[in-house]
Amino acid sequence: LVIGLDLGTGGVRAIAVDLQGQIIAQATSSYPLLTPQPGWTEQNPSDWVEASLDALSNVTQQLEGHRTMSGDKPLRVYALGLSGQMHGMVPLDADGNVIRPAILWNDQRTGKAVEEIEAIVPRQELIQRTGNPAITGFQLPKLIWLRSEEPQAYARLQQILLPKDYLGYVLTGERVTEPSDASGVGCLNLANRQWDTDILNALGINVELFPSVVESTAIAGKLKPEIASRVGLPAGLPVIAGGGDNAAAAIGLGISSSNLNRGSLSIGTSGVIFAPCDRPIPDPEGRVHLFCHVDGGYHLLGVTLAAGGSLRWYRDTFAPHIAYTELMDLAARSQPGARGVLFLPHLAGERSPHLDPDTRGAWVNLSLAHTQADLIRAVLEGVAFSLREALEVITEITPVHQLLATGGGARSSIWLQILADILQTQLIAPSSEEGAAYGAAILAMVGVGAYPNLEAAFAILSQDSNTVQPQANAVYEEGFKRYKLLYEALKGVLR
Ligand code: XUL
Repeated sequence: LVIGLDLGTGGVRAIAVDLQGQIIAQATSSYPLLTPQPGWTEQNPSDWVEASLDALSNVTQQLEGHRTMSGDKPLRVYALGLSGQMHGMVPLDADGNVIRPAILWNDQRTGKAVEEIEAIVPRQELIQRTGNPAITGFQLPKLIWLRSEEPQAYARLQQILLPKDYLGYVLTGERVTEPSDASGVGCLNLANRQWDTDILNALGINVELFPSVVESTAIAGKLKPEIASRVGLPAGLPVIAGGGDNAAAAIGLGISSSNLNRGSLSIGTSGVIFAPCDRPIPDPEGRVHLFCHVDGGYHLLGVTLAAGGSLRWYRDTFAPHIAYTELMDLAARSQPGARGVLFLPHLAGERSPHLDPDTRGAWVNLSLAHTQADLIRAVLEGVAFSLREALEVITEITPVHQLLATGGGARSSIWLQILADILQTQLIAPSSEEGAAYGAAILAMVGVGAYPNLEAAFAILSQDSNTVQPQANAVYEEGFKRYKLLYEALKGVLR
């Protein structure tokens, strides 16, 4: 067995997977999200640690139960692989203590720091070297923010870690990161997959603040005896560096840079298109992200911040007593094109392709004839239009012919067909999806040599799926043309 652990924003999930890919035990544990000011999001790293240790203990207890039930010898755990929310900053002092709460990926406090970075390192150069412009959610602007806003904390700083790497440090005593998460910091040189000292020197930042970068399947360290005895795992268990949650989830679906045709589309709170590529070619305007994949390749990432989040908002606000399935049935009673209503899904600002945390959402073109069905349908279509804008940028760089569709939104057949038709791409909905923890488990299997490489490990993935073919629809093409005009047209109004 191996264990995969994903340190998410809502909570942690740990799973024990056998080497044939079967999940034998799983546990989750949640922790609070702190919002000390509007636009700020923080978490206490000690909450992550407690929740992770609880989830691990829970999993090992279930494994123990399996053994006593079947009367066999103990199930042996060979490795633990890590995955987690990207971009966050955990600041540590010289004794390895956390100086202040972690600042998270969706925190928006760093607008000034982003400007400061781009005033020193021109945006074009940042994009060419790191794959991305300076982005408010990334870790580097958080560090610059700390330097100017909390100088006493900054003076004590010895190192900053990403969330899952901090957990790895607590588990093993070793401080490392790996390319998929490190490329979301904002100063990793994509060509050599190491910190870009030219950028850091220009910003007056010591590269020693960052941990060393190892391969994603490398052993980050060995489980400390005191932690091992607390959670019921063997002391010295190899802890594999792992991957950022998007890259790990892609591995859990078998998406690697050796098959460039196939990406993924996830409709959770946010909507994410993940497209693997074999060379680090950024969008020159930085409209989609470019990060390292865990397999030595790279991937583009298009993010619509409120996808399922838009639908949830609709339901909470206008239809709190109506089930999601009923909302979908209502949407089906409208027509493709929502009888002319358009929806801009920027309820939480936007990342791709506009990179504008301050923009907002809108319904446009309402008339007395429109009904609730049209409004809901417009929400579903607006999310799909936003993702198509991101996909158009992605396909300028790399071809994607198929998307594996995951997340809560992909369980709706109506929304899936709308997405396929608007994206004009074949969607494949796998019958089971286990997310980033599963990908972390696969990285752990390869990390300890149970499989020689990721491609070989993909043989354990279930092949069951449901394919949705795109149908051509002139109404959607017309709607997309109108949709694309909205952001610019409403720019002076939305803020
Ligand atoms: C990716 C991103 C999110 C976080 C959430 O750029 O910000 O997907 O990784 O966990």
